[in-house]
Amino acid sequence: MTCSEAALDDICRSLKDSYKMLLRFTYILELNNPCIFAIYIVDVDGRFLYFFMALSTSISGWQHCRPVISINGTSLMNKYGGTLLSASTPDANDQIFPLAFCIVDFENDSSWTWFCNQLKRIIGGRNEVVIVSDRHKSICKAIEVVFPNVLHCMCLVHLLRNLKLKYKRIVDTVFHAYACGKAFNIVNFEHEMRLLESSTPGIREELESISFAKWSHAYSPHKKYNVVTINISESLNSAMLKARELPICSMLKVLRMMLQRWFFERRNEPNYQVTDFTKTIEGILREQIKRSRSMMVNLVNNMKYQVIDGTS
Ligand SMILES: *[C@@H]1O[C@H](CO)[C@@H](O)[C@H](O)[C@H]1NC(C)=O
Ligand SMILES: *[C@@H]1O[C@H](CO)[C@@H](O)[C@H](O)[C@H]1NC(C)=O
Ligand SMILES: *[C@@H]1O[C@H](CO)[C@@H](O)[C@H](O)[C@H]1NC(C)=O
Repeated sequence: MTCSEAALDDICRSLKDSYKMLLRFTYILELNNPCIFAIYIVDVDGRFLYFFMALSTSISGWQHCRPVISINGTSLMNKYGGTLLSASTPDANDQIFPLAFCIVDFENDSSWTWFCNQLKRIIGGRNEVVIVSDRHKSICKAIEVVFPNVLHCMCLVHLLRNLKLKYKRIVDTVFHAYACGKAFNIVNFEHEMRLLESSTPGIREELESISFAKWSHAYSPHKKYNVVTINISESLNSAMLKARELPICSMLKVLRMMLQRWFFERRNEPNYQVTDFTKTIEGILREQIKRSRSMMVNLVNNMKYQVIDGTS
């Protein structure tokens, strides 16, 4: 343990002054990690308001990730409450690549807007950025104000959850709506939409009112790659489950160490890569090649092929 780590420990010991201690914590954090981006603000009476942190690896790594960000909040279960907001992106292996964390006293328009403003400072001016979240009103407002050029998408899982509640009796609704969301082109989307409408009349108008661009690949003006949910945010929240019970500084310390471990492990991964593709992509390609072996390909003309799945 280094001197400054011992200092961090001292700071974390006191549960009572936890939030007050954030100020010193931030100072030592910056001392140890010169390129870190950390901000801590209080209100006029010195009461804790917001804390934001992004590690330098997150900031530089983001430039090499797909420009799709998943954001979500989760409550802290320590004595003083508060909420942990986070932003992550999938890395080349579709693992969670955390970008930023923020602790706020309360989730509302002000805190989400403040979070988005800080996030904007670290993600810079990349083009065609997509942010995925649930339909929390404060997130919608914050993104509209802070990121007017970013496409804000709704998490497909959350959308389906609502449809499932509303159309309990119609089994096919969720199935076809999911297929619509996942379809990569308009022909396939419309095919699934017709099936959806025949089982659930009036649903097209309902889903159109949210805008197809917000929850489907096919109608999205920006590429969403393979991301349609906030699954990575939820996985991150689960990874933090135990730590969320700790006093604030201890939690941040656990979080920082977790990120350090993840980043270290992943930095070494390319050393074991044999092709230009990452491990996950290699796996997908291998699976596809295996499946294609049982397919029969017949020539229709010089441009068209008929592909028959030999297994069915
Ligand atoms: C984040 O995710 C959880 C779990 O899906 C959800 O209950 C919560 O409302 C989400 N959104 C926000 C803004 O916290
Ligand atoms: C958000 O919550 C904080 C703390 O409870 C409060 O001071 C602030 O006025 C709220 N902002 C809005 C826009 O509701
Ligand atoms: C996201 O999570 C849901 C439910 O937890 C799961 O059914 C789904 O397969 C996941 N999707 C992706 C793209 O990982």
